[in-house]
Amino acid sequence: MTAEPGTRVLKAAADAIGAAARSLAAGGLVAFSTETVYGLGADATNGEAVARLYAAKGRPRFNPLISHVTDLAAAERLAVFNSAARRLAEAFWSGPLTLVLPKTPDCGVSDLALAGLDTIAIRVPRHPVARDLLAAFGKPVVAPSANRSGHVSPTDAAHVLADLRGRIDLIVDGGPCAVGVESTIVSLAGAPTLLRPGGLPREDIERVLGAKLVDVPASKVPQAPGMLASHYAPKAQVRLNADAAQAGEVLLGFGPQAPAGTLNLSARGDLVEAAANLFSHLRALDRQGAGTIAVMKVPRHGLGEAINDRLRRAAAPRPGQQI
Ligand code: TXA
Ligand code: MG
Repeated sequence: MTAEPGTRVLKAAADAIGAAARSLAAGGLVAFSTETVYGLGADATNGEAVARLYAAKGRPRFNPLISHVTDLAAAERLAVFNSAARRLAEAFWSGPLTLVLPKTPDCGVSDLALAGLDTIAIRVPRHPVARDLLAAFGKPVVAPSANRSGHVSPTDAAHVLADLRGRIDLIVDGGPCAVGVESTIVSLAGAPTLLRPGGLPREDIERVLGAKLVDVPASKVPQAPGMLASHYAPKAQVRLNADAAQAGEVLLGFGPQAPAGTLNLSARGDLVEAAANLFSHLRALDRQGAGTIAVMKVPRHGLGEAINDRLRRAAAPRPGQQI
């Protein structure tokens, strides 16, 4: 892989983690692997670094970012945990769950990263590259997905480079992401609410809470850009619940019933494998120049909720200008 001047790509190793931590400390932008998707990291306490991060992504200014920390103790310095929040953190951290909680008065995360809200989104990633980087840096790192705003999230270092080459300082290449869709976001600032389905199935969270999660009413103003109707969009048009490709379409399969030779999210019908393949398969079909991607039906349980959510947004009518 060759990088343009200005964006270094380093294979994950001790020297790469050290270089990445130094870059963050100097206000730099560092993409790194997490178990969900690649994140674009900046020092959460450095407002200028956060401003550069928004500019690199082309992200609308007022969308808040997730603060990534090493463990629950570090998270408790940033946010006020109630007993439900602590139960979820103990059950699922480290892992693909983001909690939205009231922030502490002296949390130190820049107001720009919080978009002026009095709540904060926190995640403790599981991937060793993310964990090592957070430990080496020693402060919270804000990290949206490392793609241009509105594009499909990156699940390997080549995807990051395709979107952000020359716009960021460093990419730590930790290989492909195991989960493949972003973290599940749950707000516990009020009644436990599912803000974004993601890499941790709703059913697992509800089991630990002992209660159903509230869904965000469709009428509500989006609290997260991932909730905008058209988001996670490939270049091609997307048609859902297809049985077969029509003229001018290319089929994205799911399960053993897909025709032989079709790119398949999971030939054995496994939702975990399908989530891990989702964004890279959409990018691969885009690279083939597909006009329309026809996607076979994916069941809705478990990780199927997040997969169907991303596919629905990819298929939604596009605004004239991508956000
Ligand atoms: O898996 C992930 O969560 C990845 C990896 C890199 O950790 N990150 C990620 O970040 O998906 P991003 O910025 O693409 O999505 C974070 C979402 C945004 O939609 C944002 O609006 C929402 O979290 N968010 C952040 N703070 C929030 C808050 N206080 N209240 C509600 N939503 C919030
Ligand atoms: Mg994103």
